[in-house]
Amino acid sequence: MKLWGGRFKSETDKLMEEFNSSISFDIRLLKHDILGSIAHAKGLYKAGVLTEDELNLIEKGLKEILDETNVGEIPNDEDVHSYVERLLTEKIGDVGRKLHTGRSRNDQVATDERLYLRDEIDKIKEDLIKLIDTLKEMAETYKKAIMPGYTHLQRAQPVTFGHHLLAYVEMFKRDLSRLEDMVKRVNVMPLGSGALAGTTFDIDRKYVASLLGFDDITLNSMDGVSDRDFVIEFLSFASITMMHLSRFCEELILWSTKEFDFIEMDDRFSTGSSMMPQKKNPDAAELIRGKTGRVYGDLITILTVMKGLSLAYNKDMQEDKEALFDGIDTLKMSLKVFTEMIKTIKVKTDNMEKAAKYGYMNATDFADYLVSKGIPFRTAHEIAGKVVLYAIERNLAIEDLPLNELKKFSDVIDEDVYEAIDLKNTLKKKKTIGAPTSIQS
Ligand code: ARG
Repeated sequence: MKLWGGRFKSETDKLMEEFNSSISFDIRLLKHDILGSIAHAKGLYKAGVLTEDELNLIEKGLKEILDETNVGEIPNDEDVHSYVERLLTEKIGDVGRKLHTGRSRNDQVATDERLYLRDEIDKIKEDLIKLIDTLKEMAETYKKAIMPGYTHLQRAQPVTFGHHLLAYVEMFKRDLSRLEDMVKRVNVMPLGSGALAGTTFDIDRKYVASLLGFDDITLNSMDGVSDRDFVIEFLSFASITMMHLSRFCEELILWSTKEFDFIEMDDRFSTGSSMMPQKKNPDAAELIRGKTGRVYGDLITILTVMKGLSLAYNKDMQEDKEALFDGIDTLKMSLKVFTEMIKTIKVKTDNMEKAAKYGYMNATDFADYLVSKGIPFRTAHEIAGKVVLYAIERNLAIEDLPLNELKKFSDVIDEDVYEAIDLKNTLKKKKTIGAPTSIQS
């Protein structure tokens, strides 16, 4: 059933029909489309457009459609909205033809999408919280596990594995706060905007919004139907969250190489090679890293679709859904897989600590020691650099050099230097909030 045949003389070309159709993907909005329609029908009843009997018939019919429809089968209709209206009319007869009074698919689809996204945000929030809790628990377990901290991927200063994990907790907490914040812009109802200029029927939009659990209604009918900021905002959030996951995956991939050998991926989250029998590959982490590009693509899709659109609705906007759905699916799956994968890694704390011992990572602490003896930092830096070079040439660590040799570089150096540059002490002595041994929630 077409919703718009009246002014046309000839049939739509088959190719055009196929091209125009969105039902293969917007069928996902079925439940939210029906909930939106029930609320709209109640609004029509309150406005005196529908009788009580008509409302009851429509509501009953829509609820039956919701129960009976198998969304796995893709019908032949133009979109989910035409589909539901056809089913309703087949079920309850001509009364079904009254449902679309005072409504356009333009305000309808924007409402459906916001309802759908609101539900998905709740699920994603749970996944994110699960990930944050998992990482916090692991950080507690490994709060004393010393490992090298890197800058430029060169050994820099010792940190703990717990501290490293908590760095990601900070990122995911920011993601969570972005997600929570966007709800106040997602949960706003465009229904009642009509095609672009509102409707002549006296529909109490605030009442309809309250039925659907919206916090607010849109205030400009043209913006109401043509705004997709909420899709863009969600996909920005998803891109940033994927970027965080991807950085973490990159590290896990590196750490599981023989060259690093800091962790081993569990068999359950690895795959093998069809040719090389010895291989165990970190595919889960690689896929998440790869899928990050895909979510960026989704964001770029919608940004590009929107950038040249005059007000108000344009059919280009139908292209928003596949990007949104793909972004949601990919992020949800990645969060779930990542959380299970990270839980099962074997952490080789001995190797981490061994790596932290080599690489002169206490050189800054050595310089700080000189500062504590009254030497200006710039001079201390210079002296420490010379000591490091001297030690490198002898293939020794700073702490392996005897006191009389160290004293040649500065006579302020005393026996207490060894304590000051001891690996465990260098960590303990970091005093600033946010340093590896400071308390972090
Ligand atoms: N399938 C359309 C979409 O996703 C629904 C809105 C159609 N509106 C219209 N004026 N043709 O955007």
